[in-house]
Amino acid sequence: MENLDLNRLPKHIAIIMDGNGRWAQEQGQDRLFGHYQGVVSVRKVVEAAAEIGIKYLTLYAFSTENWDRPVEEVTGLMTLFVETIAKEVPDLNKNNIQLQFIGDLSQLPPEARIALDQSTAQTAANTGLKLIIALSYSSRWEIVNAAQVLAKLVQVGDLNPEQINEKVFSENLTTKGIPDPELMIRTSGEYRISNFLLFQLAYSELYFTNTRWPDFRKPHLIEAILDYQSRERRFGKTSAQIVLDEENK
Ligand code: IPE
Ligand code: IPE
Ligand code: MG
Repeated sequence: MENLDLNRLPKHIAIIMDGNGRWAQEQGQDRLFGHYQGVVSVRKVVEAAAEIGIKYLTLYAFSTENWDRPVEEVTGLMTLFVETIAKEVPDLNKNNIQLQFIGDLSQLPPEARIALDQSTAQTAANTGLKLIIALSYSSRWEIVNAAQVLAKLVQVGDLNPEQINEKVFSENLTTKGIPDPELMIRTSGEYRISNFLLFQLAYSELYFTNTRWPDFRKPHLIEAILDYQSRERRFGKTSAQIVLDEENK
């Protein structure tokens, strides 16, 4: 922790929490056991992110494609979400954490939607870490959705096609008002994006670790941030330009 440069922290970290199922199966347990242990990691990592001073943390909890998993796993996960979300609200409030959900929430069972709405409302006044949970989320869904909204605005004459720029487009994504993640972490040794924040990750630093999500803790988060801080972010420029920009700051 003392090696972290607090002046160069990512404002927004996004995490693909992967490897719960394998983690459980490797010890002869049911996949669902891994998801339950994954909640422990969520708690620890959220606390650590708040403590370090991260402003936004987005966690990929369930993708649109995950609806195609065996029905027992899907219902088990939904039950886990409902139980956990309600239970965590007092701790979120104690830590001044504001909760938000992104994704196609209309697909969720009613009891899950109620739990989500309640916890969002109950934490709305908090001013600390913004915790964004991607649930029933897929980035292509989000992008297509934004295209539809913009097309309708053009159709009724409220928008000219020329007015559609990157800013207008991103304001019609589910992450409206949230800065793009500077750092994206994926656990469990898979090297892919799996339909997560495709627009927003355009210039994010990507960090992959073999650690399975149920084993991921604060030291792993710090390691990822340290790795991020060791990189030069060039945004298409040359290294010499970046050095000069830094000097002129
Ligand atoms: C991530 O763990 C959690 C969800 C996708 C809900 P997985 O369930 O994908 O675990 P593995 O990748 O099969 O090990
Ligand atoms: C991505 O993990 C989605 C979440 C972590 C919620 P998956 O395990 O579903 O991704 P794939 O299928 O390996 O790409
Ligand atoms: Mg997986």
